[in-house]
Amino acid sequence: MYVQNANAPERKPVTVPGLLAMKTQGQRIVMLTAYDASFAWQLETAGIDIALVGDSLGMVVQGHRSTLPVTLDHMVYHTAAVARGLSATLLVADLPFMADRDVAHVLEAGARLVGEAGAAMVKIEGAAPHILEAIAALTVRAIPVCAHLGLTPQSVHKFGGFRIQGREQAAADRVLAEALAVQAAGADLLVLEGVPVELGRRVTAALTIPVIGIGAGPHCDGQVLVIHDMLGITPGKRPKFSKDFLAGRDSVAAAIAAYAADVRSGAFPAPEHCFN
Ligand code: KIV
Repeated sequence: MYVQNANAPERKPVTVPGLLAMKTQGQRIVMLTAYDASFAWQLETAGIDIALVGDSLGMVVQGHRSTLPVTLDHMVYHTAAVARGLSATLLVADLPFMADRDVAHVLEAGARLVGEAGAAMVKIEGAAPHILEAIAALTVRAIPVCAHLGLTPQSVHKFGGFRIQGREQAAADRVLAEALAVQAAGADLLVLEGVPVELGRRVTAALTIPVIGIGAGPHCDGQVLVIHDMLGITPGKRPKFSKDFLAGRDSVAAAIAAYAADVRSGAFPAPEHCFN
């Protein structure tokens, strides 16, 4: 049964051109993951700008050690569930591991995530030549693209673990060059994950598209967290770049509202959530 979310504030739908305007106007963008309709409702009610159905669901929902076992069918299932809980919040869905192996698979994934499941934008990791080609192919078919650079979780084995990227000058320059390349290929948004503060600042200043950081410092145009991390319910040690917003609060709604307020005011991320 579909129930209208009466608690959601009246607001204009968040759009892709609207995100660009937010960057231009210096308005910080709030993004948070969701994997089902109930949490999507919570995001909608808190006025979150972007809901991300991340392939992090492989870890926080399915209990795997990485995002690699997540399939396109899983992504379509969870994206459709989240779409049912949203109205004004923009919905972004991840392309899972190996859905980017060639342009045909990328287009098939884009068609399912947008056409079947209801996403407004798809997210794709990396900036290798075939990824740039895929971003361009999606873009000419009017499927908006969120690129993802820095600590890209689908490269966990290549990195030797979930390790901060861009610490050395050459590596930082490479991330900046990749960011310019994904923008030139047509990306509308960039998630920058697990890089030092100074690199987050350089990339955000160099790009015209909005840059959403996760462990990328306070200078990004917006922030994203995995909802289980910011509610303090991910098993094990909380990642340094995250904060438990439920601690000291009495509801999930209050925690999500506090996260949104802290991102918009610039209070989050604080120095203790950043890498130098
Ligand atoms: O899968 C995911 O949730 C993500 C975020 C960590 C940005 O990609």
